Amino acid sequence: MTQDVRKRIEELREQIRYHDYKYYVEAAPVISDLEYDRLMEELRRLEAEHPELVTPDSPTQRIGDQPVPGLTPVEHRVPMLSIDNTYSREELLQYRARVERLLPGESIEWVVEPKVDGAAISLTYEEGVFVQGATRGNGRVGDDVTHTARTILDLPLHLIGESFPRVLEVRGEVYIRNSDLVEINQRQHERGEPPFANPRNLAAGTLRLLDPRIAAERRLRVFCHTQGYCEGLEVSNHMEFLEKIRSWGLPTVPHVRSFDDFDAALAYCDELIEHLHEWDYEVDGLVLKVNDFDQRERLGATSKSPRWLIAYKFTKYEATTRLLGIHVQVGKTGVVTPVAELEPVELAGTIVRRASLHNADEIERKDIRIGDVVVVEKAGKIIPHVVRVEKHLRKRRLPKYHFPTQCPVCGHRLERDPGGVYIRCTNRACPARLRERLKFFASREGMDIDGLGEKIIDLLLEHNLVSSFADLYRLTADQIAQLPRMGTKSAENLIRAIQASKKRGLARLLNALSIPHVGARTATILAEHFGSIDRLMQADLEELEAIPEIGPIIAESVYDFFQSEEGQQTIEELRQVGVRMTQPRRRHHAKPLEGKTVVVTGTLDHYSRKEIEELIHELGGHAASSVSRKTDFVVAGANPGSKLQKAQQLGVPVLDEASFEAMIAGEAK
Ligand code: IVH
Repeated sequence: MTQDVRKRIEELREQIRYHDYKYYVEAAPVISDLEYDRLMEELRRLEAEHPELVTPDSPTQRIGDQPVPGLTPVEHRVPMLSIDNTYSREELLQYRARVERLLPGESIEWVVEPKVDGAAISLTYEEGVFVQGATRGNGRVGDDVTHTARTILDLPLHLIGESFPRVLEVRGEVYIRNSDLVEINQRQHERGEPPFANPRNLAAGTLRLLDPRIAAERRLRVFCHTQGYCEGLEVSNHMEFLEKIRSWGLPTVPHVRSFDDFDAALAYCDELIEHLHEWDYEVDGLVLKVNDFDQRERLGATSKSPRWLIAYKFTKYEATTRLLGIHVQVGKTGVVTPVAELEPVELAGTIVRRASLHNADEIERKDIRIGDVVVVEKAGKIIPHVVRVEKHLRKRRLPKYHFPTQCPVCGHRLERDPGGVYIRCTNRACPARLRERLKFFASREGMDIDGLGEKIIDLLLEHNLVSSFADLYRLTADQIAQLPRMGTKSAENLIRAIQASKKRGLARLLNALSIPHVGARTATILAEHFGSIDRLMQADLEELEAIPEIGPIIAESVYDFFQSEEGQQTIEELRQVGVRMTQPRRRHHAKPLEGKTVVVTGTLDHYSRKEIEELIHELGGHAASSVSRKTDFVVAGANPGSKLQKAQQLGVPVLDEASFEAMIAGEAK
């Protein structure tokens, strides 16, 4: 009989563990809450009837019923070091150079991960059973917080699977979701308790509570990112380690990717930074790590931090203010985005009146209502956005926000992308869309037409002088000179700038066209792959999808654009007015940089650091890493570093990217 009970108990525990994993780690439950509760109830009943069979790793034992008398110190068997930080791109490149110097001639794989802003934790498993949780403390000695760590929702008390290392210590970051904080603060308010200021402090404070029953209400979660002291774990790199612990049911840091070169890793950092606002947890930077453990060992550590990783941090600023209204803007691809109108508030030294609300789903998920007190955040270069609502401060009933169903500009129906989050105006000729497309077409990222900004575009539209991209090239100086506040001279300059933009090449043109899902990077990939618009227009879906980095969504969007009447007409008209539709060849036979020493600083639009250095070599020049009197000129991109100042001090000529390109193309600017 007991044998059967024992077997059933084991079965139930295994099922519950599996469902916990599906629910909390994968967020993809396979059974209903009711079915789950039934399993749990049966387990509780059997354990109550057979208390001798209760073990500490049983799912029923997650929340202890007794507070601990105090926290006991725990010595870390491997010290918990900290990470060296930088806030600048320039320093990241210096870091890379340092690592490359220490590993001469070796290829280095780089891993990029978000730096989750919570509380560090060490979690130890013996033979697959969770035995200890400890805080970081001073890095050598922390506090035993096993009782609160057990309440971490997605932490397995027993690993899933079969063979585990004898000892497995993983380290990670305990955090609380923003959406959970909203609920927790609401509960605090109902109980007459003060609200918590931010999820990070709450996570750290909760871990150190003596009473696990209170901790359990705070909905702690964890992301694991590092190994500590292990016995019997065989892995040779970080990605393998993460995969292994993930297979045992441990939640690992999301959005992790590895790259063969540092530039690709940096490009991924930029991509991640654009998505930060979509995540329900706080992130205060990104971490770049050497993947290979053997290389890590050879790199070693300083007294404070290992040399194999660096944190690329962003300074974050937060403020609380009131949401006065929401208005929606129509973008260049017709996407309608909501913008928060705020009671003006100071954030990082500037007064913020507006913040991004991203999309309808985010408003819904965060349950943002007009009249709410909201927390706005600005991190790095990102525009301010609304992080969460202080729901407990919602004094009266506020109506739920309903996203408009009609375009605020042309009145046409708004429609959601199939399976996507974006909502678009269905009118391809929507005036707002045309305006945004023209603005982008003329911008620095697009065809880079000097002097053709928002104000002039509005004037051109008002006077019905343009209704397509090609119309810009048909403008005459006389037409422009007749616009208010435009003289003959500035009209002529503008025409010259418009005409000059015809030679930007295919990559810029493709980006400038505002084809949905095609940004600068995709445009460059397509331009380099096909070389001319004719070749691109002949490509079928299969050929597009086969290009590395071009996924099915992008491929379809590109294909649709070039098959559509509108797309074909746009191209035909631009061809007629003389816009260049080929990509200048990369291979140069002439050597315009023969004998020249060139230094590059900052981020360029068209080249990674490696690419431009290769190009300089190909053109006969020498790419140097620091500026001296011997430097012939400096190419400066966005966010240039101290090299620019040095060049200015020494009187070394400085070129921007466009002038550099003009120079090597023999079009001295
Ligand atoms: S790796 C030598 N990876 O940042 C330390 N840490 O100062 C190796 N953190 O509180 C840590 N996200 O818990 C690493 N993806 C990540 C991280 C991360 C957050 C925390 C870590 C500690 C702090 C390091």
